[in-house]
Amino acid sequence: MSYSNKLSGNVYWVGVNDRETELFENLWPLPNGISYNSYLLVDEKVVLVDTVKIDYQEDYLEKIMELTNDRPIDYLIINHMEPDHSGSIKELLRLFPEMKIIGNSKTTGFLKGFYGIEDNIMEVTNNDTLDVGEKTLEFHITPMVHWPETMMTYLQEDNIIFSGDVFGSFGAIKGSIFDDEIDLEFYEDEIMRYFSNIVGKYSPIAAKHIKSLSDLEIDIVATTHGPVWRNNPQYIIDKYLSMSTFNAEEGAVVVYGTMYGNTKKIAEEAAAGLSAAGIKEVKLYDASKTDKSYLISDIWKYKGAILASCSYNNELFPPMLSLVEALENRGIQKRYFGFIGTYSWSGGALKRLEQFADNCNINLVEPKVENQYAPTNKNLKKAFNLGKKVGEKIKGGKTN
Ligand code: FEO
Repeated sequence: MSYSNKLSGNVYWVGVNDRETELFENLWPLPNGISYNSYLLVDEKVVLVDTVKIDYQEDYLEKIMELTNDRPIDYLIINHMEPDHSGSIKELLRLFPEMKIIGNSKTTGFLKGFYGIEDNIMEVTNNDTLDVGEKTLEFHITPMVHWPETMMTYLQEDNIIFSGDVFGSFGAIKGSIFDDEIDLEFYEDEIMRYFSNIVGKYSPIAAKHIKSLSDLEIDIVATTHGPVWRNNPQYIIDKYLSMSTFNAEEGAVVVYGTMYGNTKKIAEEAAAGLSAAGIKEVKLYDASKTDKSYLISDIWKYKGAILASCSYNNELFPPMLSLVEALENRGIQKRYFGFIGTYSWSGGALKRLEQFADNCNINLVEPKVENQYAPTNKNLKKAFNLGKKVGEKIKGGKTN
C-alpha cells in the first residue's frame, strides 16, 4: 500500500480502479475508466466508508487487510447503495459477521432488496454522531443525490467529508489520488460529464445539500469517484455548486442529426454564425457519431446550443430525439437555444424541438429555421443569422 493513499493520520483510501467496464451503468462511456473510492479509518474501532463494485472485491479486501493487520471491521458506513459502492457488502459481512452496517431509514430497503440483509444494521438520522475512539463521525442525510438513501459522513477531527457521488468524476486514478499531485485538466471534462450524466437531474437538490455543508469546516473532500480534494477542496465544492445551479461558460454547441448531409450543411452555417458573433468555443457534433453523454456534458458546460435535426418518421432523427429526451429528463435550464428542423416529406423535427422548448426553462432564440429538401441559399443564410444571434445573446452575458 502506497503511503500516498493516506488522507490523514489513520484514514486511508482503499478504492479500486475499473479500467475494464465499457459503459458506466451500462449507459455512459468510460474511455478513461472510473475509480470506486472507499475509505478506511483505523481507530479503536475499524471503520469502512462505502465499498466497491463486486468485480473488484478481491483487490479491495487485500488493501483493507494490509492496513488492519487482520483486525475485523467494526462499522461499514454506506453513504450510497448503488451497486458500484455496495457491491462488496455481502462478502464483507461473510468475513466480518459482527460488522455493523450504518445507513439511514432509506438504506434498509435497499440492503434487504439487493442483498437480503436485514440484521446488523444501525440506522442514523441527520447530525447523529458516532465515537469510534479518537475520532468522531457525523452523519448528514442528503437524499436524492442521486438516489433516495444518499448521505454523507463527516469526520470531525480531520475535517474530511465522505461525500458519496457528490463531487465525483469519471476517470480512473492515474498514479496519485490527490488533487495536488495530478493533472486536473484531465478531470475538468470528466467532472462535467459525470455530473451532467449522473447527478444533473437532481441539480436543485444537490445545490441545496451542497449549500448545507457551508457550516462545516472542510479540509478534504473524499468522494466515491475520482480524485480526493485535499489541496483545494473549495474548487470542487464551487464547481459542483456552479454546475448544479446551471451556470455556464462562454461557448456554444451545435449538434446535428442528418441522414445524407443536408442538415449538416445548415448546421455548419449556424456554427459559422456563432463564430461571426465572436464565440471562439464552438463545438460541432454529429449526433450519430458522438455519444449523447458528451453532448449533454457540453450543453451543460456552455451558454448556447443549436440543435439541427432532420425528420424521421414524423419525429426527430432518433439520436437527436434521444438527446432531447435526456435534456428534458435533466431539466436543462437557462441556456440560449436555437432550432433548425429539416424534412423532405413528413416534417416533425421542428415541432418536437418546439415541444422541448415548452418543456424546459430555456431561452429560445428566434427565428427558428425550417428547410425542405436540400438546403436553400435563403435557409443557409437564416441558419447563419440564427447562429449569429445565439452568439450575440451569449456575448450579452446573462442566460436567464
Ligand atoms: Fe457511484 Fe450512484 O453510484
